[in-house]
Amino acid sequence: MALILGIETSCDETAAAVVQDGCTVLSNIVASQDSLHIEYGGVVPEIASRAHLERILPVIEQALEQSKTTLKEVDAIAVGNRPGLIGSLLVGVAAAKSLSWSLDIPLLTVDHVIAHLWAPRLDGIEIEYPAMGVVVSGGHTALMLMHDPTQVECLGKTIDDAAGEAFDKAAAILHLGWPGGPKIDTAAAKGTPIHRLPRPKTKGDRPDFSFSGLKTALLYGVRGNPTKQNGKSVFPRDANELSESEINDWAASFQEAAVDTVIAGLHHALAHHDVRCVVAGGGVLANTLLREKLNATATSYNIPIHLPDSLYCVDNAAMIAGLGYHLFTEGHRDSLHVTASPRGIAS
Ligand code: KG4
Ligand code: ZN
Repeated sequence: MALILGIETSCDETAAAVVQDGCTVLSNIVASQDSLHIEYGGVVPEIASRAHLERILPVIEQALEQSKTTLKEVDAIAVGNRPGLIGSLLVGVAAAKSLSWSLDIPLLTVDHVIAHLWAPRLDGIEIEYPAMGVVVSGGHTALMLMHDPTQVECLGKTIDDAAGEAFDKAAAILHLGWPGGPKIDTAAAKGTPIHRLPRPKTKGDRPDFSFSGLKTALLYGVRGNPTKQNGKSVFPRDANELSESEINDWAASFQEAAVDTVIAGLHHALAHHDVRCVVAGGGVLANTLLREKLNATATSYNIPIHLPDSLYCVDNAAMIAGLGYHLFTEGHRDSLHVTASPRGIAS
């Protein structure tokens, strides 16, 4: 039996978890910073790293307490050290290194985007490899051919905005608030996708994604075509002139186009690679339509699909501890010289 303490601070969630043998979650603490960033309509990196500093130790203590584990019982520390906001990542990495050094136990660093694809295993699901991984989050949108949990090839990724970022920007255009994904999801459920928005395709053979054209199409659709006045773009109208049902219809139209874009990439990847299942992860997996369409796509290829419980869709440390366990059993160890990186396999 191995107990791994996982730490995750890549963006604006301060998280720690204790996981037994990679799949049994004994505790999973996530301190969201949404309330600190809401007035800015997005994550402010400096505020995020300061908040991580204040919260990291209490969050780790809570994770240990809830799992009824003492530090002495922990076998290894796993930390997401890439990709993400560098100031945020450094807080988690410094905490993990200090614990590894003081307890004299192994340190394991993981790419948090790949860790999203461990999330279904926290629900006890076995994954058969090779698998097609789909990560749809606030910072990343990527398709990965997985030979095993860590031997992963990135087949395609976003060339501009990530899908979650596009949801957040769409919600800002529609004045729905932040974080935008859940707001668009709720509004879309009450609307009809009556507006035909583009499903941008990237050039070339790779199933890369692009969401910025879709966002601009929504902006022009909602606010009309802008004119230049004194070098500034001036729009003929604003979303607050629309009725609630018009907003809902735009939200539904945007959501459908964004989801179709992800699904088109998955079709491309599945048509070119033989895999035994699809595995998906990331915050946008909380989206109802995306889950439905991912299920339908895998079914059309006659392969199973594993979607994480919504608890494990957002950034969390249980998935980090899980992937860390896999590395631990493979004999992998990181040195205390390891550092954080804003880039990872999908960025
Ligand atoms: O994975 P995550 O916690 O953060 C990153 O690793 O980036 O994902 C957060 C993203 C946000 O952009 C949020 O708007 C989006 O996930 N999101 C959703 C929904 N719930 C969260 N997007 C669409 N529909 C949802 N229901
Ligand atoms: Zn993430």
